[in-house]
Amino acid sequence: MNVADTEIVLGILNNKGYSQTNNADEADVVLFNTCSIRENAEQRIYGRLGNFKNLKALKPDLVVGILGCMAERLRKDLVEQKSIVDLVVGPDEYRRLPELIDVAYNGDKGIGVKLSRTETYDDIIPHREDGLSAWISVMRGCDKFCTFCVVPFTRGRERSRALSSVVDEICELSERGFKEISLLGQNVNSYKDGDKDFADLLAASAEVNRSVRIRFTTSHPQDLSDKLLYTIAEHSNICNYIHLPVQSGSDRILKLMNRTYTIGHYLKLIEKARKIIPGVSFSTDIISGFPTETFEDHIMTLDVMRQVRYDGAYMFKYSPREGTKAYAMKDDVAEETKSKRLQEIIDIQQQISYEINQELIGTEDIVLVEGVSRKSNDFLAGRTDTNKVVIFPNQDGIEAGDYLKIKIKRATQATLFGELVKAVKLNNNNLALIA
Ligand code: 5AD
Ligand code: SF4
Repeated sequence: MNVADTEIVLGILNNKGYSQTNNADEADVVLFNTCSIRENAEQRIYGRLGNFKNLKALKPDLVVGILGCMAERLRKDLVEQKSIVDLVVGPDEYRRLPELIDVAYNGDKGIGVKLSRTETYDDIIPHREDGLSAWISVMRGCDKFCTFCVVPFTRGRERSRALSSVVDEICELSERGFKEISLLGQNVNSYKDGDKDFADLLAASAEVNRSVRIRFTTSHPQDLSDKLLYTIAEHSNICNYIHLPVQSGSDRILKLMNRTYTIGHYLKLIEKARKIIPGVSFSTDIISGFPTETFEDHIMTLDVMRQVRYDGAYMFKYSPREGTKAYAMKDDVAEETKSKRLQEIIDIQQQISYEINQELIGTEDIVLVEGVSRKSNDFLAGRTDTNKVVIFPNQDGIEAGDYLKIKIKRATQATLFGELVKAVKLNNNNLALIA
């Protein structure tokens, strides 16, 4: 999401004549686009700010700015306590960046931290390098108010972009050769444009060009409708991959988290999705050590992981965030216990991912080639529509952006290794006809 926001910021600044440099020594303005979701994300920014102290001392005119959620959360504290910071601009004030940079350049502090109920940057053309994958924020903010989460406070109320403008953007990206578009929102299936919902947006996005894959994240279990599941099933280029954070396996903890579902409801949803979309894969987010979490609650989380058998998971220790409801509860699970539980969660997930990948040996799947593998030019890397990385021997005539049928020969917990079966030619621009 921050990559997508950075592209919007670059779009706004490029319009005013700014250009980018990858060399900080050359920069007149240095902007950090920040995340506040957990304490360690913020600590990393403080670390990086420290690295810029010397440069600022050498170049007093250098404007250093903090963008995004940390700007929103810490506001004036940042400019008052960190003398190096000249500018703080929250996620809904990026249009004012050129003006605020001027303020900072003239020696005052540039501060823009108002949240908006309407800002979607719908008319801003994000600045994207050519490539295969692009991210489009289709909605902003979140109204769910999970009690542990700072997002509703830093990114404000939910609002959606117009369906037609998202589709126009996908058309342009498709013409530029992009092959994979991820539709983003904190709570993407709450998307709404008049009487059009997220399923309508997904269908319209998929129909732009059937050889462009459509992905989306993040889905909240409360809003994953039957219509959405059938839409995924009906469109071959909407990826069979759903990121569906469960957070905890204990109904008591889920209630304290204000997640609005029970594990029974969640498991039924998974079962239904698997019926409607055969072969669908799931990933999740899990938090260990939420306030009052007992050993029994933790075991329930491990049980849910074993029942669902996620293809992947993002796993975190609970991190108290000021201003949230959970912040008022005591952070009463010892750090050591949180770490131990997190490690058990990670170990189980690694075992499950390994087993799922082993079961894929001998099967064939279509892979979108992303380029040479990280380790060697002799191998190419691609991704299945279920978001698994596949490595296979490089050969002449294959390019990034090609679709190939690959037979899986070997697998680790994180990667599949295979061999080319055949290149998949597009027929009528429609992958489904030949896949
Ligand atoms: N502590 C730990 N993890 C958190 N997340 C959100 N807020 C917190 C927090 N305070 C995790 C959730 C969410 C993901 C994006 O980050 O699992 O789904
Ligand atoms: Fe945060 Fe996601 Fe909950 Fe919204 S739905 S409050 S972004 S965890």
